[in-house]
Amino acid sequence: FAHVPHPSPVSAEKRAELLKNPGFGRVFSDHMVTIRYHETKGWYDAKVEPRAPIPMDPAAAVLHYAQEIFEGLKAYRTADGGATLFRPLENARRFQQSAERLAMPILPENVFLEAVDQLVKIDRAWIPEGDGSLYIRPFMFANEIFLGVKPSSDYLFIVIASSVGAYFKTDAPAVSVWVSQDYTRAAPGGTGAAKCGGNYASSLQAQAEATRHGCDQVVFLDAVEQRWIEELGGMNIFFVFDDGSMITPPLGGTILPGITRNSLLTLAKDKGIKVSEERYSIDQWRKDAASGRLREAFACGTAAVVTPIGTVRSNDGEFRIGNGGSGAKTEELKAALVGIQRGRTADPHGWIHRV
Ligand code: COI
Repeated sequence: FAHVPHPSPVSAEKRAELLKNPGFGRVFSDHMVTIRYHETKGWYDAKVEPRAPIPMDPAAAVLHYAQEIFEGLKAYRTADGGATLFRPLENARRFQQSAERLAMPILPENVFLEAVDQLVKIDRAWIPEGDGSLYIRPFMFANEIFLGVKPSSDYLFIVIASSVGAYFKTDAPAVSVWVSQDYTRAAPGGTGAAKCGGNYASSLQAQAEATRHGCDQVVFLDAVEQRWIEELGGMNIFFVFDDGSMITPPLGGTILPGITRNSLLTLAKDKGIKVSEERYSIDQWRKDAASGRLREAFACGTAAVVTPIGTVRSNDGEFRIGNGGSGAKTEELKAALVGIQRGRTADPHGWIHRV
């Protein structure tokens, strides 16, 4: 990596002000990492440089055919002046899987990790104190100047970082979700398991419908039977029952294999909670919420962490989960996850990576 560091264009006072209440995804750090790829050269020209606009030809393939993938992970401030990342190798691996699905070149895991480390090191000052974190966004897109439909010959891999607080703006104890009956997110054989921009683009109309109905997130059902709960617009989902057991929809090609989802499955098992990956239908959800068999539901993801779901709305009406707020299991699992992520508790699975 060639280094082109620069003095921050933002004063320390201004930065402190921005970090007080950063929200999600609007406050950016000073640098970015860029690495280029050409089909005959391989990866080349790795740089840590000032964050700046990227000149692009209007015929760049990504602008036409959406050959793009991304990742999301968070860096946390440590008391000793360092920083940590949560399971970054899992992001590197998923990035490779996404690349494969989108016919893009495979970035070696060690290069992905080194790129993220370099950015976190140089921009550590942008990690908020307290509950915030530095959200790292690695992404790659097709950069060949060509309008034919084929895998691009050239790609640009970039890592940027954004100082973040909570993903949801709401002060409510739980979020509300809208069950989309008109749109689906992913069909068998499609790109549902890949973290590609297109999946999020196609979620937006449904998300807008959710917003119109006063909901924070959309819930997608499976594309074949329009019956099985799959995931939310940008996060996975878990259900907690009155006997203390938990389920989450199984992967299988149409669901994003969340790293938070995977970690919570492990943490639940550690706690002796009976947890399984099992299909759950929208009708059953409604029935179980009414009977009280279902006690809690929560969304999970890197951005969302663990967020309780209190209200479910659809064209068929509305129902509440538990008391409409958070629940004991949700809070217990959230505390276990956040405790490890922030270095407050032991890390029995070796999930913490020191930068
Ligand atoms: C993440 O949780 O990191 C995501 O990529 C989802 C998006 C809603 C920000």
